[in-house]
Amino acid sequence: MFAVYATGFSTDDPLAGLGLGERPEPEVPDGWTTVTVKASAINHHDVWSLRGVGLREEALPMILGCDAAGLDEDGNEVLVHAVISTPGWKGDETLDPKRSLLSERHQGTFAEKVAVPRHNVVPKPEGMSFAEAACLPTAWLTAYRMLFTQSGLNPGDSVLVQGAGGGVATALISLARAAGFRVYATSRDEEKRKRALEIGAHEVVETGERLPSRVDAVMETVGGATWSHSIKSMRPGGTLVVCGATSGDASPAELTRIFFQQMRVHGSTMGTRDELHRLAQFMDVTGVRPLIDRELPMAEAAKGLQAVADGDVFGKIVLTL
Ligand SMILES: NC(=O)c1ccc[n+]([C@@H]2O[C@H](COP(=O)([O-])OP(=O)(O)OC[C@H]3O[C@@H](n4cnc5c(N)ncnc54)[C@H](OP(=O)(O)O)[C@@H]3O)[C@@H](O)[C@H]2O)c1
Repeated sequence: MFAVYATGFSTDDPLAGLGLGERPEPEVPDGWTTVTVKASAINHHDVWSLRGVGLREEALPMILGCDAAGLDEDGNEVLVHAVISTPGWKGDETLDPKRSLLSERHQGTFAEKVAVPRHNVVPKPEGMSFAEAACLPTAWLTAYRMLFTQSGLNPGDSVLVQGAGGGVATALISLARAAGFRVYATSRDEEKRKRALEIGAHEVVETGERLPSRVDAVMETVGGATWSHSIKSMRPGGTLVVCGATSGDASPAELTRIFFQQMRVHGSTMGTRDELHRLAQFMDVTGVRPLIDRELPMAEAAKGLQAVADGDVFGKIVLTL
């Protein structure tokens, strides 16, 4: 089958280790099933994999991709939940210390077919295209959990979203606006700031610029480049939820401010199958839809991965088959 996979790692030139072409059909262990992929979304995770972050040399070649929307073995339209927990794990799958994401230990979704545990297959939300649905399992699910499970925000509260252009950030802005939060966003790029307003931000500022007032919570995906600003932008007792560090680790950590202003820093990773179900319902009720930057045939995955590596994206890049 056709697939897009990692053959090696390079920190400086992640696409150097990219392979496109024939790979064996997936093996299907007991309790697993296959999904025929119609669409898959690129995440920064795929670029990290090509840089050798989270993927081991002995697992190569590894088909990339966490997200998939497609057809199950009976022809039903489905989504794949990308968090693979250990067999028999009960409760929040993201807290399983041995969990992995598709494309870390098990072959990923940038292929004609992907094998997953049966309970990782969930119905595709009605009224959503395959391309839209493919954006849900990683970026949108991560945003949903950050905002509605981890932040402690209530409707009417204010939230800052750093780095407006990213897949998680655009999801955060859209979901936060629909939930009745006052939404601030930052971006380094004027065009992206304009677009952030169009998708729901109430106010935008340049990266690092002072906000008109302090916020109840900050959603961090950028890391080192925005961390200090995030901490300084929060009211005493505010909550910072962090799910990623695209620009590297935070320095300085702003510990004095964190303890003196009694702030909470909350890590967040992906989301549960139950949260994925609630996200789909939230989108059905509100009519909010994932923002797709561009759709590309899977054979042109290199273009999409390069755009994500370069930060040349506003929303999600979707690969279709
Ligand atoms: N823990 C999880 O489960 C999980 C799930 C999904 C994603 N993540 C992580 O979250 C991060 C975001 O992923 P993503 O795919 O949504 O987006 P992304 O492609 O990593 O981009 C996020 C945004 O970061 C901003 N940015 C990047 N470098 C910057 C810098 N040096 N200074 C200021 N801003 C910078 C850019 O904003 P502007 O260009 O607008 O300024 C960019 O649009 C990644 O690190 C990803 O691995 C984690």
